[in-house]
This record gives sequence, structure tokens and C-alpha cells, in this order.
Amino acid sequence: MSAAAAATVARTLRRKPDAVFLLPTGTTPLVMYRQLAELHATERLSFADATFFNLDEYLGLPPDHPASYHVYMRDHFYSLVDANPDRVQVPAGDARNPQAECERYEAAIRDAGGVDLCVLGIGRNGHIGFNEPGASFDSRTRVVRLAETTRLVNAADFEGDRAPERAITVGMKTIFESREILLLASGANKADAVAETLYGTISPGVPASMLSRHRNTTLLLDFEAAELVEEAPE
Ligand code: PGA
Repeated sequence: MSAAAAATVARTLRRKPDAVFLLPTGTTPLVMYRQLAELHATERLSFADATFFNLDEYLGLPPDHPASYHVYMRDHFYSLVDANPDRVQVPAGDARNPQAECERYEAAIRDAGGVDLCVLGIGRNGHIGFNEPGASFDSRTRVVRLAETTRLVNAADFEGDRAPERAITVGMKTIFESREILLLASGANKADAVAETLYGTISPGVPASMLSRHRNTTLLLDFEAAELVEEAPE
């Protein structure tokens, strides 16, 4: 899964060195980032002309908070490659005016020319970015309330085991407008969400189901996450 994802990122960069990427955090993409760092070290794959946006950030966290996605991206990816800091953006979780920050972020994605490749993880509840069940398919970058299940899964990253209640996330419509999308899922605890995405009704109750309507989305699954995937008929 990770090798296929890294290969798609590399192919996109080789075709279009100034491509625009929309990228995830979490456990799932860690090995993809490590492999991209290896491609940079061994094959001189360059990220210097590309532009990178992150999907989300917790509301209220300063960029140097150890559980922030600023720190995650710096430690797991940007500091390991030649990404240009001027072309890297993560929503400012500590913005004084979060609404204005959401509008600025959405405009920055638009001004960059839109997203060439969006890489997504999937939550156990089918969320993409922090678009939790119920998120409108028309939504843009905005402040959202996290599902209790999401806060529980992510609690261990925070002192006192209390994840923030809110976050800034890139919206469903913004994700959907990406020219290419990769959805990564690994582990048995994602198998239900993957099956719902593939076979369930397309509805905001399972945000990832929206991707069924997208013309250029690929699901990359490990065997456990693909447990409930039916074989295509001959
Ligand atoms: P995970 O998170 O990669 O840590 O499982 C994925 C997600 O919630 O989108």
C-alpha cells in the first residue's frame, strides 16, 4: 500500500514538478512518507517546486505543539526532503480568527491552481480529513466538531488523554475537486469503513462514499483493510 502510494506521488512529481498536493496525517501514511524520503535520498526525487497543503489541523493548537499536524508533517516528511517552506501550508490551528483562516486556506488552494493529487486516510467511521459523518458534500474548508469516536482514537496523543473538540478541515467539495485522489486504508479496523465506501449508499453518513462519484480515485488497501472486499466477477 505504502509503496504504491509513494510511487504515485513520485510519478506525479516527475510528470509535473510544480504539482499541488493535499496530504494526510495519521498512522496510515507514515511508511509512504518514509519511502518518499528514501526516494529523495537515493534517486534525488525533488519536492522543491511542488506545493503542499495539509488536510487538517486541530483547533487551538500552536504549530509547535507536539500533537499538532504542523509537527507531524515537519518530522515525518518536510524536514526529510527538499520541500520549499514557502510552498508548505498547514491550517493555523491557533489563528485568532479561525473563520478567516479557513477562507484564507481555501483561497490559497484555489490560487495554487487546485489540487493535482490528494492522498487520504479513512477514519473507522468513514471520515476523510476531519469531515466526520454528516459533512455536506458541498462543504469547503471550515471549523468542525470532531466525532467522539475520533477524539477517543486520537486521545493518546494528548496530555490527560483529551483530544481537542474542534479542528479545521479542508472541505468535501475541495477534496472532490482534486484531479486525482488516493485513499489509503490499512488494518482490520478499517475493513468496515472500506466496505461501506465501496458498497454502501453514497451519503454524507459515510463521507468517503462520495469518492465513488469521483472519476480518478484509487483505493490502496492492505490485506486486512480489504477483508470485506468482494472479488470482481470474471
Ligand atoms: P489513521 O487515521 O491513519 O491514524 O488510522 C486515518 C484517519 O482518521 O483519517
